[in-house]
Amino acid sequence: MKKILITGGAGFIGSAVIRQLIMETNDVVINVDKLTYAGNLQSLKSVADSSRYYFECVDICNAEAMARIFHEHQPDAVMHLAAETHVDRSIAGPATFMQTNIIGTYTLLEVVREYWGKLSPGCKSNFRFHHVSTDEVYGSLGATGFFREDTAYQPNSPYSASKASSDHLVRAWHHTFGLPVVTTNCSNNYGPYHFPEKLIPLMILNARNGKPLPVYGKGDNIRDWLYVDDHARALRLVLDRGRIGEVYNIGGGNEKTNLEVVYLICTIMDEICPQGAPHASLITYVQDRPGHDHRYAIDASKIAHELGWKPQETFESGLRKTVGWYWANTDWVDAVISGEYQTWIQKNYGDRRLS
Ligand code: NAD
Ligand code: DAU
Repeated sequence: MKKILITGGAGFIGSAVIRQLIMETNDVVINVDKLTYAGNLQSLKSVADSSRYYFECVDICNAEAMARIFHEHQPDAVMHLAAETHVDRSIAGPATFMQTNIIGTYTLLEVVREYWGKLSPGCKSNFRFHHVSTDEVYGSLGATGFFREDTAYQPNSPYSASKASSDHLVRAWHHTFGLPVVTTNCSNNYGPYHFPEKLIPLMILNARNGKPLPVYGKGDNIRDWLYVDDHARALRLVLDRGRIGEVYNIGGGNEKTNLEVVYLICTIMDEICPQGAPHASLITYVQDRPGHDHRYAIDASKIAHELGWKPQETFESGLRKTVGWYWANTDWVDAVISGEYQTWIQKNYGDRRLS
């Protein structure tokens, strides 16, 4: 039994990790989340009553509150997922990205260093700080090649630059202070509980509501998709068995153009809801994202060979599960699209978006 402090546990990936940990292990989980527009406790309803689950509504930038949480809960490990994560928002307003992703990670590292420094020798060497990051730090690929762990950093958006900064901070705290860290860089996730401003859930919900499906540019940008539960399993494996100071790339081996993804969603929607068919007629080409990275693709051979990880879902099976989940869980959808999200959407996109 381990005590794992998870930052950003009310978000898309963090909540998937927590659901797995509570349902499949005896570990204790302390979820530290500020509950921004992207954090939703409804995503944790199935595990919230567990005696092994604790929630702390705290900003990771608040050093005092974070120190209090470490003191009270005495965790054996940290999985750091809290971040601002949407590239479009980072273009419209980078400030919160710099604050949470850079200053927040710095603040957390300092709190952890203080806490870890006072642990007994045994606890000290078993402690882990797992930094969860993105493949976007590597920039954009041409038609060929893959991101490997030794690919040079070339972040292109304010979001990816802030995540790259946080990766460098984590590396430095290991190199200089000896903090036992592991870092993972993952490709695009999809699945249930994904906030509907990202491509896949946005397209599913707009298709359901007969609204335009806004494809940026020509729709030929390529992403490497991974089902969120496969990512969560990979993160748990790296926390348990990853080598200290190492980086592991995680990806699904599912390269698709955005247009391919949207057409596949439309095909599934046509089966579920024939009265709306053909949903592909809703596809609308809109202005491209500034600085839009063309292609991401991960070489996941290191985590496969060292730790024996491989994804369980194919893109088709994962996407079918995902569309089915959004179709069945309208209460979750209604809850997340209320409040601040609505205001932001109106201001930045007008009614081109989900409403
Ligand atoms: P998300 O946007 O769904 O959730 C982020 C969570 O962090 C939210 O619950 C939010 O309330 C919380 N948070 C934000 N600022 C905070 C702060 N200052 N203090 C405390 N909590 C705060 O994000 P996600 O998609 O689940 O991503 C989780 C992590 O995984 C991020 O670090 C992201 O960079 C990384 N990642 C995401 C993907 C992806 O495809 N979604 C892929 C690779 C890596
Ligand atoms: O690669 C990992 C990253 O994947 C994570 O680090 C980020 O947190 C996560 O948001 C995601 O970033 P992307 O920018 O790739 O995801 P998004 O869903 O915003 O966009 C996916 C692709 O779809 C991208 O090429 C832009 C395009 N797109 C997106 C939206 C929201 C559209 O064509 N139309 C849209 O409405």
